[in-house]
Amino acid sequence: MKGRKILVTGGAGFIGSNMVETLIQDNEVIALDNLSNVDERYVEPFRSSGNFKFIRGDINDLSSVPGLDGVDVVIHLAANSDVRNGAENPSVDFQNNVAGTFSLLEYMRKSEVKEILFASSSTVYGEASVMPTPENYGPYMPISSYGASKMACEGFITAYSHYYGIKGTIFRFANIVGKNSTHGVIFDFIKKLQKNNRELEILGDGTQRKSYLYVEDCVKSMIYVHEKSQKTDIYNLGNPLTTSVSRIADIVVSAMGLGDVKFNYTGGVNGRGWKGDVKIAQLGIEKLASTGWKNRYDSDGAVVQATKETISQMGL
Ligand SMILES: NC(=O)c1ccc[n+]([C@@H]2O[C@H](COP(=O)([O-])OP(=O)(O)OC[C@H]3O[C@@H](n4cnc5c(N)ncnc54)[C@H](O)[C@@H]3O)[C@@H](O)[C@H]2O)c1
Repeated sequence: MKGRKILVTGGAGFIGSNMVETLIQDNEVIALDNLSNVDERYVEPFRSSGNFKFIRGDINDLSSVPGLDGVDVVIHLAANSDVRNGAENPSVDFQNNVAGTFSLLEYMRKSEVKEILFASSSTVYGEASVMPTPENYGPYMPISSYGASKMACEGFITAYSHYYGIKGTIFRFANIVGKNSTHGVIFDFIKKLQKNNRELEILGDGTQRKSYLYVEDCVKSMIYVHEKSQKTDIYNLGNPLTTSVSRIADIVVSAMGLGDVKFNYTGGVNGRGWKGDVKIAQLGIEKLASTGWKNRYDSDGAVVQATKETISQMGL
């Protein structure tokens, strides 16, 4: 992507700040974020660039946000990214994700912005009976309000695409890991071990298995695939193999140079970390591979690299 004016919603967050870093050399980038999940620390390094502007604003209220004229492309990452609290408060997923995406699409319609890249999630599939799960698997039966909200967003994007000639590329992410984390299993384990390096509480039974993708592979493949794709389409982004939660605990403990750490499994809900947690998530990535894209790190490699980077960012 070169010479475009790009609005990155959620641009101060984990994936957003990595996206800004990738785009900023060759594009004019506006990061919009309401800072509900993170402060401005990850966008601070871009402030000196003439190509960058940060706007503190909410996707639910874009009409009051100045400076959004002439945008060519929206990369839509703003969302409630915490899957865990859905059962206690599903309205957060509805407000931030569904209503927020609708409001963003209305801004795009009125301002004639014709391209959107959207961060969806493997959670739309729910507990899929086919593994690895391809994009055309169905019916979707999400088991969390987060997954349900992403499914609704996908539908609005394809409808707006049909009505108003918007090209939408929808990406169903595996678990994304890497620098500037704001949440997730690696981040949680490191924080817990920082407080107590003799014991580690592990949500669930540790056998939960998911595919992990390094954040740089995530943002670069999004741009690569969107540019190759001729029409509105949906792609899984992930790695072919999975990494278990217990294996992640081992990787984190070893990277922190700790010896005897006692793992305390909560057992969770049928071995899940929490109500709404999908126990095994493995995405089919043949469609991604057919574009010619190759990830730099596999699932275990992504976890190892992300652990190193997170430990170093926390100054440990
Ligand atoms: N990290 C993952 O593993 C993963 C997996 C699947 C999908 N996703 C999706 O990728 C996107 C980015 O996730 P992330 O991991 O970087 O999370 P993140 O929480 O670090 O980033 C999201 C950002 O959006 C901002 N935000 C939230 N609601 C907003 C609103 N109403 N208006 C403006 N800004 C708002 C938050 O302050 C935060 O900075 C999200 O849409 C998330 O659902 C992430």
